[in-house]
Amino acid sequence: MQGKNSTNATRLVADYVSGRLTRREMIRKAVAAGVSVPAIAAILAGASPRRAFAQDATPIPDPDAASTLVVPSGLRTDLSGSSITAVLADPTDPNGPFLEGAIAKFTEATGIAVEFQRGERTADARLQAYRQQFAGQSADIDVYQIDVIWPGVVAEHAVNLAEPLADLAAQHFEAIVQNNTVEDVLVGIPWFTDAGLLYFRTDLLEKHGVTAPTTWDELTTSAQAIQDAERADNPDFYGYAFQGRAYEGLTCNGLEWQVSNGGGFIVESDGTVSINNPQAIEAFDRARSWVGTIAPEGVTTYAEQETLNLWTAGNLAFARNWPYMFAASQEAPAVAGKVDVSPLPMGTGDAARNADTLGGWQLMVSKYSENQEPAIEFIKFMCSPEFQTAFAAEQSMLPTIAAVYDAQEVAEASEFIPRLKDVFQGGAVARPSSVTGDLYPEVSQAYSQQLNQVLTGDKDGATAAADMEAEISAIAGG
Ligand code: GLC
Repeated sequence: MQGKNSTNATRLVADYVSGRLTRREMIRKAVAAGVSVPAIAAILAGASPRRAFAQDATPIPDPDAASTLVVPSGLRTDLSGSSITAVLADPTDPNGPFLEGAIAKFTEATGIAVEFQRGERTADARLQAYRQQFAGQSADIDVYQIDVIWPGVVAEHAVNLAEPLADLAAQHFEAIVQNNTVEDVLVGIPWFTDAGLLYFRTDLLEKHGVTAPTTWDELTTSAQAIQDAERADNPDFYGYAFQGRAYEGLTCNGLEWQVSNGGGFIVESDGTVSINNPQAIEAFDRARSWVGTIAPEGVTTYAEQETLNLWTAGNLAFARNWPYMFAASQEAPAVAGKVDVSPLPMGTGDAARNADTLGGWQLMVSKYSENQEPAIEFIKFMCSPEFQTAFAAEQSMLPTIAAVYDAQEVAEASEFIPRLKDVFQGGAVARPSSVTGDLYPEVSQAYSQQLNQVLTGDKDGATAAADMEAEISAIAGG
């Protein structure tokens, strides 16, 4: 560190250590002031007492996290002394410290203790674990975080929240509340929504004279050009990464590829299986062409976390991931301040369009819980507009309450959220979980396993599409 850089860095260290700046503010200011990436990394490594671990290696909760969260009024205090267990997030989730901070505020306000358990790392593994707990009618977990595609699968194990949380449910997007309602049982209250996004490095686009791609062909060409140039200095650099492992995340990517190419929605709302057509096949083969060229060979084993790691290390020009990676990027010295997002590119041919898969998670109370009242109170807090405002501003998690999209603190910290509001408020593409109900996980598994074989080169797109059609028709009776 020299000259101006060194003075800036010294002042930022002092402000950070004393708590005048949060970690995120410090990184943003450092990047803006031109402090070099190694210098920022040194600040974080040498001077982060506030992110430290206790001597027994227990992480000390980050006091910055959830600092903007205002506790909603009207929470019950007469349940003080009770305790619940909630399974939320996963061990690799960057939201962990935020959730710890939020839960501490809930306990302080209500006297209800919450044991925060992390869930399994992927949606598939998580569902498998939940299914085992439900089969044993286990009372160990009171509150479950459930995926937007699961209401039909978990409804019979859920407390009906329609009455106890009627006022809260009325504030959330009607379409998601509908999605979460199975035969009049409101299975879960929306916690956050998700949509697949294209991430790009604004600095690299500028450096290489490239504009943000609007079609997959443009993305392919630009990713290749930036990769070719960047490899001279960085042998680990790639143009693009996505989620290619055989799991739910690949179903989300595959749906985006085929819908954006006019290739159908896997299962249409009338039950017709629509995969085995030239546009879908073309989209699958295009994705295969990325593996080992603009994307690492290993992308066929990637879930979200692997994409995030490569991205935050500064080793990618473009990536497909969910909104959470935006806030996570602002904490990563290699990319902070150099990241923007857009809807995913369009395909080619008839009916080509933008397609961003709809994701998101709900909170559910287990029917086997012996602490249902405090569990409901916890959901009231976690799905409140106050919680969603802080979750959007600090963690770039998408709200499910319309008014939160217009909150000033959200626009300041996560500008893309109000900007892409149309995509997030009904424009995203749903997976066929309503039409397939409790068979959806098996439909999705058949799809992602076949598609993974296309990516690894074991099958061509046409063979896989025919096999998908046969398997999914057999499962879902199309
Ligand atoms: C995200 C989405 C979820 C999806 C999962 C796939 O968590 O919110 O709906 O199933 O990714 O990996």
